[in-house]
Amino acid sequence: MATSAFQIEGASRADGKGESIWDRFHADGKTPVGPDPACDHYHRLEEDLDLLAYLGVDAYRFSIAWTRVLPEGTGDVNAAGLGFYDRLVDGLVERGIEPWPTLYHWDLPQDLQESGGWVSRDIVHQFENYARVVSARLGDRVKNWITINEPWVAAFLGHLYGVFAPGLTDWNSALRAGHHLLVGHGLAVSAIKGEVSEAAVGPGIDCRPARPASDDPADAGASVVFDGFRNRWFFDPLHGRGYPEDIMRRYSDLGRLDAGEMIEVGDMEVIATANDFLGLNYYTTLPVSAGSEELDDPEVDPGPDPSDGYTEMGWAIDPGGLRDYLVDLHEEYSPASLVVTENGASFSDGPNDDGVVHDQRRIDYLAAHVRAVVDARAAGAPVDGYFVWSLMDNIEWTQGYDQKFGLIWVDRDTLERTPKASFDWYRSEIERLRG
Ligand code: FCB
Repeated sequence: MATSAFQIEGASRADGKGESIWDRFHADGKTPVGPDPACDHYHRLEEDLDLLAYLGVDAYRFSIAWTRVLPEGTGDVNAAGLGFYDRLVDGLVERGIEPWPTLYHWDLPQDLQESGGWVSRDIVHQFENYARVVSARLGDRVKNWITINEPWVAAFLGHLYGVFAPGLTDWNSALRAGHHLLVGHGLAVSAIKGEVSEAAVGPGIDCRPARPASDDPADAGASVVFDGFRNRWFFDPLHGRGYPEDIMRRYSDLGRLDAGEMIEVGDMEVIATANDFLGLNYYTTLPVSAGSEELDDPEVDPGPDPSDGYTEMGWAIDPGGLRDYLVDLHEEYSPASLVVTENGASFSDGPNDDGVVHDQRRIDYLAAHVRAVVDARAAGAPVDGYFVWSLMDNIEWTQGYDQKFGLIWVDRDTLERTPKASFDWYRSEIERLRG
């Protein structure tokens, strides 16, 4: 089961927490809802941990807000902020649930943004320092660590398309931000391992597997470029291959990239630091036709017309895509272990007169994707974990509370939690799979 700090915690200025780029993005009028109250998880920690225990999961992925631990991104540690995660970890361990923290799920300290954020080189050491501070404190109880979440989204939605914080819109910034996220990741792997013996560390990478939209060879070519732009740009360097040459050439021909200026000596080795697992966030696939090698408008993601339909994000439901992509990653890169770090569906079903949320479409989505993981394992892919996005309805970034991914309904007036039918289904599915 997976969540992230900004999306559920609320309490955005409590106990010395600093401002993040998403807090500022809202203050600047770029999102419909602000960071408060979210699900007020910060003040309802025990109740939420009890729900997780009742669900029966043996692992929980959450993220740590950099701004609670180091309100300005660097400098003095905020004891109260780090103390919150200390209690969270204790609460999980007491309940027999393994903590899987993510260090960076997009909520950069605003103070660091003001000195360039992910575009500036300094960030890689600031992130490394933050990783060291957190792992030194929690590492006696936390063995599994996810460094960064979805670098394509953070770099490109945040710095090229401008639809996510910090809202920049140029290629150079996007490519530099992506590069620094990867270098920061590699440095963090070593920093965590320096603090925590037997730590298992990996990144959480988003993907959008591409297929040619038709038999036209032009669509096949476009699909290769799209895959390079969206997927290989991150998977290749993480596995020691450097950035994909076809895409490097394209970017330099188009004047988007000065690789010599961006990549410092040793960077590619740092990025290729061995991971213990490769985390994969999977929601959907994309058919690509000539002319759509890159997304013109990432918020209008033109899916195919699949027999399984779409979720309310407009994402095509394609469980076979998850199975195939896990097998492809295994065959292409041979990661030591694969973990599905996010998978889930947005459907807005609310409580009926009987008070029950009958979210059958979410159950169908999850059942098909769990089967896809089982199939991928049968085909030889070393998939060792699967996290559902998400425990409860929360802030879906720029879409506020409208997109609901939770297995728990959260009443927006009272913040009362009501498990949905999918929660009960998942609970019995866990029991069934454990045998
Ligand atoms: C992913 C994000 C996660 C959530 C889901 C729906 O891109 O990592 O925070 O918003 O999408």
